Amino acid sequence: MILQKKEENRIPAHVGIIMDGNGRWAKQRNLPRSEGHKYGADVIEPLMDCAIELGVKAVSLYAFSVENWARPVSEVKGLWQLLEYFFKTKLDLIKDKDIQIRHSGSLKRLPSSTKNMIIKAVEETKKNKTIVLNFCVNYGGRQEIIKAVNDWLASAKPGEVITEKKLEKHLYTAGLPELDLLIRTSGEYRISNFLLWQLAYTELYFTDVLWPDFGPDDLRRAVAEFQKRERRFGGL
Ligand code: IPE
Ligand code: IPE
Ligand code: MG
Repeated sequence: MILQKKEENRIPAHVGIIMDGNGRWAKQRNLPRSEGHKYGADVIEPLMDCAIELGVKAVSLYAFSVENWARPVSEVKGLWQLLEYFFKTKLDLIKDKDIQIRHSGSLKRLPSSTKNMIIKAVEETKKNKTIVLNFCVNYGGRQEIIKAVNDWLASAKPGEVITEKKLEKHLYTAGLPELDLLIRTSGEYRISNFLLWQLAYTELYFTDVLWPDFGPDDLRRAVAEFQKRERRFGGL
């Protein structure tokens, strides 16, 4: 069953996506891995259109993990160039569509041109309301939790204890809705250090589709599957 229209309540407010399989997609076509990443970036726009149409409020895209620095320098460089190109060519459209860009992760190791591009995109879209597009770049779930604890500690009074609420205020995702649905493409069944705190009661959806082939119908399929799930949150 392919979902067509908004059904309030049953639409996941926040969808996380581990965009995986670009390299294998390219390999199947005898193309360099960089082509897989390029085609992978092209699917983001139609997916955001579909997410808006469905009534999703936030989409978190895993674009680069803290572990991805282990890849060859040339691939990493290519990914930064691609991210810059994405914002250069899409920022006006993003603004027209009232999409708010957020960034989750550390800007520290990024090339300054990439860093500046991300800061500009976040700054210039911060008042937008239709949907949040949260780019997780140089992101790690464990690193995020450690950072949140340290940030909280810096302002804590002696003897004060941390709570879930206090910690969440210092997560990159502060203010975003609960993560209702996580999608991972390319047939891998793991989390790879993505949104570890936020995943506590998220519904998980895995598909064999490689990321560059993931289209609006695949997103609708994932949401339709989500709607069939019975969420109990530990209750009956
Ligand atoms: C996901 O595709 C994109 C990033 C991690 C940047 P991969 O590059 O991991 O593709 P595979 O897993 O090698 O096919
Ligand atoms: C996860 O994919 C990170 C992103 C999609 C950005 P990877 O391809 O890096 O994950 P592993 O290494 O297969 O776990
Ligand atoms: Mg991969």
